[in-house]
Amino acid sequence: MNTILRGKHFITTQAWEKSELETVLELSKDLKKKFVMNELTDHYLRAKTIFMIFFEQSTRTRNSLEAGITQLGGHAHDLTPDKIQISHGEVAKDTALVLSRYGHGIAIRNCFYGTGNYYLQEVSKHASIPVISMQDDIYHPLQGIADLMTMREKFGDNLQGLKVTVSWAYAESHAKPLSVPQTQALLFSRYGMDLTFAFPEEFPLMPEIMEQAQQNARANGGSIRTTQDMDEAFQGAQVVIPKNWGGFLGVENPDSEEGKREMQANLEKYKDWICDGKRFSLADKQAIYMHALPADRGKEVTDEVIDGENSVVYDEAENRLHTSKAIMALTMGGRP
Ligand code: CP
Repeated sequence: MNTILRGKHFITTQAWEKSELETVLELSKDLKKKFVMNELTDHYLRAKTIFMIFFEQSTRTRNSLEAGITQLGGHAHDLTPDKIQISHGEVAKDTALVLSRYGHGIAIRNCFYGTGNYYLQEVSKHASIPVISMQDDIYHPLQGIADLMTMREKFGDNLQGLKVTVSWAYAESHAKPLSVPQTQALLFSRYGMDLTFAFPEEFPLMPEIMEQAQQNARANGGSIRTTQDMDEAFQGAQVVIPKNWGGFLGVENPDSEEGKREMQANLEKYKDWICDGKRFSLADKQAIYMHALPADRGKEVTDEVIDGENSVVYDEAENRLHTSKAIMALTMGGRP
């Protein structure tokens, strides 16, 4: 058990040893038990402050971190760029150096395609306190670790050989970041799972991330394959994770008006990429349905599946609380 994690940034799970991730999972389990038993844990981060900076909306991440640090005895500042001087152009370095003098952790969500992760890296370079990613354009490590905890609760600690399908799905709410499926590729491959990624050709994931995931799979006895056939990807899967992501890599310039129109036109072609009861029945009889939420009901998934007995989406969302608490307790508190 690797317990010396104080001060460590949590921007990608790739930067954490497996022994460190095990520590997070063990502590998450313990904190979950204590939460259920109404046992106080308010000495873990007593009088400590985390600054949460949200460039985008959030339900789970915002509330799991804020409730979580309260339960650990600390306090969260819920910030957006317009509440601080970011919207007037204050650079990441200055924000990092100043907040480091006031508190004990900085958490950031910045999913702007092409710049989000860069912003987090800039803050982490200058901060003398841990920087925790609340999601960027490449990674969503808090989601990945909660997903892993949920899978272990359902299938046991040894996930070697578990057949997991991560599939693109149609949605209309917004072009969702690539960070959830990419984090799942990077993290699940370290646990030897047999992963299938399904997506239309215009909706690829970052090739360099998928190459790292392939290396993880090779090193850990798992596998990764890709397909453009959602039905085929579902066949025999023990876990299905159908979710939308944007077609940023499928067009020349996703930020331009023409690029946005092209992405929209690509999206319209794949309305039938939905997880409905018929498609879900292709998976293993005991298969579970997962989704990071928010889900586009009626677009990504039918009510029948997301509200069905095989859906674990609320357990998955609940585990965001316990895992976020573990990450904060270990990086902001813990042994020096
Ligand atoms: N899954 C997730 O990160 O949810 P929010 O966007 O609501 O935080």
